[in-house]
Amino acid sequence: MVEIMDLLERPRRNRKSPWVRSMARENYVGPEHFIYPLFIHGGEGRQPISSMPGCDRLCLESLVEEAGGALDDGIGAVVLFPALPDEFKTSGGEESFNPDGLVPDAIRRLKAQYPDLTVITDVALDPYSSDGHDGIVSSDGRILNDETVEVLCKQAVCQADAGADIISPSDMMDGRVGAIREALDDAGHTDVSILAYTAKYASAFYGPFRDALDSAPRFGDKKTYQMDPANVREALREVDLDEAEGADMIMVKPAGPFLDVIRAVREHTALPVAAYQVSGEYAMLKAAAQNGWLDERKSVLESLLGIRRAGADVVLTYFARQAARWLAEG
Ligand code: PBG
Repeated sequence: MVEIMDLLERPRRNRKSPWVRSMARENYVGPEHFIYPLFIHGGEGRQPISSMPGCDRLCLESLVEEAGGALDDGIGAVVLFPALPDEFKTSGGEESFNPDGLVPDAIRRLKAQYPDLTVITDVALDPYSSDGHDGIVSSDGRILNDETVEVLCKQAVCQADAGADIISPSDMMDGRVGAIREALDDAGHTDVSILAYTAKYASAFYGPFRDALDSAPRFGDKKTYQMDPANVREALREVDLDEAEGADMIMVKPAGPFLDVIRAVREHTALPVAAYQVSGEYAMLKAAAQNGWLDERKSVLESLLGIRRAGADVVLTYFARQAARWLAEG
């Protein structure tokens, strides 16, 4: 007979059955935590994205259908990313504030069909820029801050005019949150929120997204505006600025490789914190699952739970619908 160990604490007692485990559970993830990113294009039908199996570029009809499906799955918010043909791209990114452009059209369609759907739009110039940068590029190759902010304000107001509920600047220019807040207010959009990409890192994990939109920088990289992946104090400085400039919600991006940043930001601000599980994180999980190397359902749900545990209130994820359906199955 084995001698009984003299243990006062046996943590395993709190893991002994599903019910006991559920009493001890500290975090959970549900469809109400998801924002669903969608790629759109101005042509016909769905176009598969090769580095993001399971994600398509959607025409406006399929966008409405996909958003309706998301609502049925319990997901109430989508964020739109447009893929534009080269002839719409200019160095000034003027198409970004065309009231008859693809994004305003998409917003109007969605809001007409689903008034309660929360429509979020990305503010940055990269899908509209012939240089593939988030800002305006000078003749000597610098990304111009203040000139860019002026255009971003027009883009934000144009999206709000079309009915966007939340504007999400992803460009990382200095001072853009305050400037966009003022522009929105001046245009009468005091109820339109700003979800700021506050700590957006110059990450290799955006690769598949840039394939999806054909929006890779035509020269150089984004390191003079996106953050150095080595830094976390700098993220808190960005939080302070975005908060002071009127941001309603703060975002950290990417999510998985930056869980410590999510935690630090969570502890630093009272604002809701979002985290973006980006295209490369999606592609990694998909590729491993397709090779039979990971259990897709378990590993995806664990990745989302991990992001929530780190402190994110909401998660932008391409897995949103799939994860919501898995969760509903229990
Ligand atoms: C562009 C933007 C990017 C993403 C969201 N908005 C790419 C970039 O900054 O180059 C990436 C999202 C993803 O990888 O899923 N402003």
